Amino acid sequence: MGKDVIVACDFASAEQTFAFLDKFTGRKPFVKIGMELYYAEGPAIVREIKARGHKIFLDLKLHDIPNTVKKAMAVLRNLDVDITNLHAAGTKNMMRAALEGLTREDGTRPLLIAVTQLTSTDQQSMEEDLLIEKPIDQVVMHYASCAKEAGLDGIVCSPLEAGKVHDTCGKNFLTITPGVRFADGDVGDQKRVMTPAQAKEIGSDYIVVGRPITAAADPVAAYERCVAEFCD
Ligand code: C5P
Repeated sequence: MGKDVIVACDFASAEQTFAFLDKFTGRKPFVKIGMELYYAEGPAIVREIKARGHKIFLDLKLHDIPNTVKKAMAVLRNLDVDITNLHAAGTKNMMRAALEGLTREDGTRPLLIAVTQLTSTDQQSMEEDLLIEKPIDQVVMHYASCAKEAGLDGIVCSPLEAGKVHDTCGKNFLTITPGVRFADGDVGDQKRVMTPAQAKEIGSDYIVVGRPITAAADPVAAYERCVAEFCD
């Protein structure tokens, strides 16, 4: 899989999701299904979107004891998604168990990506609530290295961190980066943003784009603009 634009389908129902996806009559976007849609509609939504010809990033961010995560991943592997994820904070043992669970009998598996520190966690909340007293950049890079050692394929990170992650973990370690905005668009609640062209320049492998596409007056045109800036 090469560079691609992943559209965050942050909708509350299958109806809204299909009303949105029906607009795409040409190129079928790579779709991110998050907790809201998955918990509302269950595994059927994954199968239906897959059957329409989309690649899928199932963003459920698993985090539990290794045995539980392994068994959950063994269920998810049958959904035939392309990418799924977990929290690196679950430790290397949990990440290794997840990989075992995710690997099918023929040896194939979806790509497995780690979330490091959520972008909603800042230095202060990490120190006060989690008692982690190192600089947050160092914590993110350490979690990325642990994910690499455990055999995972990459991490979710800010596009601003993608270059450093590649320096630390190698060029082939995938960086999936949300926080993307058009130069002339609304930033909304995202704090540290980049344009698709800048994310390409810095070496992101995949960009995750939600509202700049889902809330655009012409979502297909906004998607095509992202693809033109990031992929071509
Ligand atoms: O609408 P917007 O482009 O901000 O959507 C970004 C998507 O990426 C959302 O689904 C959001 O939950 C997700 N995400 C993020 N920042 C992270 C991890 C995931 O914005 N650190």
